[in-house]
Amino acid sequence: MKKLITFIFFLLIFACKSEKEYQLSDDIKSELRKEAKTFMDSLKSVLVYKIQTEGIVSAVNVCSDTAQILTENYSKSKNLSIKRVSLKNRNPKNVPDDYETKVLKLFEELFADGNLSPEVENIELITENSTKKVRFLKPIFIQAECLNCHGQEAQILPEVSNIIVTKYPQDKAINYNFGDLRGAISIEKVIK
Ligand code: HEC
Repeated sequence: MKKLITFIFFLLIFACKSEKEYQLSDDIKSELRKEAKTFMDSLKSVLVYKIQTEGIVSAVNVCSDTAQILTENYSKSKNLSIKRVSLKNRNPKNVPDDYETKVLKLFEELFADGNLSPEVENIELITENSTKKVRFLKPIFIQAECLNCHGQEAQILPEVSNIIVTKYPQDKAINYNFGDLRGAISIEKVIK
């Protein structure tokens, strides 16, 4: 009898624990979705504002510095790590890690089959070096204004090209078309 009670007790603890984890991951899902959207919206509004007020050439400089500053500040203020990554990166800081590479390749496969909608996301609770974390990735697509700096060579102004080549001699982020998969927004949050 005593054994049975102990067994039921442990069963209950186990049930409560997995219930809690499920709840937690559900809350985090909506939190990370919101963070990803706010971050991408703020980045895009800075970009559009700069293109409209100062023109595309000065927007390149702004883009290259501001994007990184925004990324770092946003991450610090929200106590998570948020960045943009791409298999065809421009900035060496945006090279994907192993996990991001795996997901980006999956996104590419879905895209090639015509199954990558903007709603697709990858969210997973993982343990890395005995740290529990949530990893969230969502695809980024090429829109019209992106072609100024990521489009076919003929679409990019020579002045813009010059700045890009000088700042990023290893640039891989050109020759995209409207609607192409450009990369992903990647968030990492440690769970305590
Ligand atoms: C004015 C030029 C310019 C425009 C317009 C522009 N980008 Fe970029 N983009 C850059 C530069 C410069 C970088 C590298 C600096 C950074 O952000 O880290 C970059 C980096 C990126 C990255 C990070 C990965 C990497 O390659 O380093 C993504 C993703 C990206 N751009 C997507 C977009 C999308 C989507 C649009 C359109 C909404 C866009 N860009 C419009 C200049 C531009």
